[in-house]
Parts: sequence; structure tokens; C-alpha cells
Amino acid sequence: MIIASQTLRGPRITLQKAVKSFAAAQAHHQEVKKSLPELSPWLGWATEDYTLEDSYEYLQGCEKEWDKGTEFNYMILDENKNFMGMISALNVKENDKKLEIGYWISSAHAGKGYMQEAVKLMEKEFFGLGINRIVIHTDVLNQKSANVPQKSGYILEGIQRQSQWNKKEQKYRDINTFSKLRSEYEQNL
Ligand SMILES: CC(C)(COP(=O)(O)OP(=O)(O)OC[C@H]1O[C@@H](n2cnc3c(N)ncnc32)[C@H](O)[C@@H]1OP(=O)(O)O)[C@@H](O)C(=O)NCCC(=O)NCCS
Repeated sequence: MIIASQTLRGPRITLQKAVKSFAAAQAHHQEVKKSLPELSPWLGWATEDYTLEDSYEYLQGCEKEWDKGTEFNYMILDENKNFMGMISALNVKENDKKLEIGYWISSAHAGKGYMQEAVKLMEKEFFGLGINRIVIHTDVLNQKSANVPQKSGYILEGIQRQSQWNKKEQKYRDINTFSKLRSEYEQNL
């Protein structure tokens, strides 16, 4: 099983293993609620009725998945340890040495290059642990999200037509698949 580091330190941010605590749930819930206008078009779970209990249960689930080695969810923290958002290694497939990165950042911290920095930290950790392929999926209409892999050297492999149901719009959405291989990562070290 992959044993990932609980703390990944970058120049401006730290990624910290997401664990359940009342304080973490409060911080998570507060930033979700403040960022709903930017999150809700793209993330089905981000709705007006998202509760503190939902945050707590989510963090509880993060711990369970971490222990199973199937997901590694990190809180993105600023230099004062304030919660800024989440970045996750999802669908970790140990046999195929591949995973998917998912992310969101609170609106107050968006547009400052933090997510590209967080992705770099995840690449260093997981390619370093033997992962061979990292995928990032973005809604074709979510240009800000697509900018992250595009500016981080990922290749657009294709578009999965009508691959995700968008609850808010009640429509199927086309999804970009971006990927980076370990060989490509190592070439650019
Ligand atoms: C998509 C999302 C994660 C992007 O986060 P972000 O931190 O703003 O993304 P980036 O790291 O790419 O930074 C964005 C901008 O900051 C700029 N920037 C400002 N200061 C910077 C610095 N010091 N270093 C690097 N870039 C900097 C970059 O040029 C970049 O510009 P661009 O948007 O034209 O590429 C965020 O908008 C979000 O959470 N959206 C809602 C949820 C969502 O869509 N999640 C993804 C679902 S697939």
C-alpha cells in the first residue's frame, strides 16, 4: 500500500493530511460556504444546504480512505496554518500506478497561483512514491480549472463527451482529461 507523507511543504503553502476534528470541520465549512458561488457550478456537493456535519463527515471519510490507501486528501494551509482549500489524490490504483488529482480553493485565495503550487507538491510526493500517471479532469466550461494542468505541463488527452451529470444545470457535461506521466515529470526536473 502507498504510504504518503502527512505534510507536504512548499514555498508559500503547506499540504496537511485531512483529519476529522471540530476545528478542521469548522474551517472547511466556513470556506465552502463563503465560496459557494465559485464552487457550486462545478462541484455537485457544494450546495446552499451544505452543513457543518457534512464537513465533519467528509473529513471522517478522508481519514478512512487514507487508511485504505485509496484517497489521499490534503488541506491546503497558508503560512499561518489557515485553511485555504483542498487537494486530493483520488482513485489511487496501485497496480496501474495511477491516480487522479482533484482540487478547490476558497474564493479569497484564488488567482494567486496557489493551486499550481499545490499540484507541484502532489507531483513531487506521488511520482516520488512510484506513481506513473496523474490525471486531472476538468469541465470543458471551467477554464480556471483547466488552466491549472495546462500551465503545469499536462497533456490534454481528449474530451469525455457528456461524462458528468451537472446537478445544478440538470445537464450532462463534457469533461477534459489531462495527464502527466512520470517520464515527463522527470524530464522537467
Ligand atoms: C480552479 C481553481 C482550483 C484554481 O485555483 P487557483 O489557485 O486560482 O489556480 P492557479 O494556481 O492556476 O492560479 C490562478 C492564477 O493566479 C495567477 N498568479 C498570481 N500570483 C501568482 C504567483 N505568485 N505564482 C503563480 N501564479 C500566480 C496565475 O497567473 C494564474 O493565472 P491563470 O488563472 O490565468 O492561469 C479555483 O479557481 C477553484 O477552486 N475554483 C472552483 C472549484 C473548481 O472549479 N474546482 C476544480 C474542479 S475540476
